[in-house]
Amino acid sequence: MKELRIVGISGNVKAPSRTSTLVGSVLRQIESELGLTGRHIDLSVSAPAIFRALRADQLDTEGGEIIRAVENADVLVVGSPVYRASYSGALKHLFDLVHYEALIGKPVILVATGGTPLHGLMIDHQLRPLFSFFKALPLPTSVYAIESEFDSYAVSSPDIQKRIRAAVRELELIIPHARTFALARDEEQSRLSA
Ligand SMILES: Cc1cc2nc3c(=O)[nH]c(=O)nc-3n(C[C@H](O)[C@H](O)[C@H](O)COP(=O)(O)O)c2cc1C
Repeated sequence: MKELRIVGISGNVKAPSRTSTLVGSVLRQIESELGLTGRHIDLSVSAPAIFRALRADQLDTEGGEIIRAVENADVLVVGSPVYRASYSGALKHLFDLVHYEALIGKPVILVATGGTPLHGLMIDHQLRPLFSFFKALPLPTSVYAIESEFDSYAVSSPDIQKRIRAAVRELELIIPHARTFALARDEEQSRLSA
């Protein structure tokens, strides 16, 4: 059976990070429920390599490998802290370097953390349109958590745990689609490189 590539990206620019913890929790739930292991790209570590390039044709080996991992993922978990009522600039820069056709039809679980519940709609007003642009498939259930739902950067709220489980159950429903899609992409790539 086709092994799916799961990639989590957290758009925080410092560590420790609630956003990174939340993306990690979703990745762990995907692993325990669906048996799929993911890679986690944390921008507090990877942003310098991305920022060395202002355009995709300027990426060095390290930056290019990160962008290729995002483009070649079959499923994405994308998280950001709310910064100034939007997602972080670091996350936007990463996606500015991703090819505009690379994410078509790919399921995306959207995740964010913020200081106030009032900015929970950042996911729907800012992140969701980004993935509509890419013609990706952001899942209906997203996960938004505020600072008081963490204890020393670990998720402490049962409601957030429930939300993570709900998002991963939705992902499970479209895994067959993701597999068919991934196989078709692999076939297309080997046809082009033959
Ligand atoms: C520069 C900056 C801007 C922020 N702007 C907002 C904001 O507009 N709305 C909000 O709810 N929280 C805002 N916050 C709070 C962060 O979103 C919140 O602390 C988040 O959980 C931090 O994530 P991290 O632990 O992954 O860095 C801001 C924090 C920083 C540092």
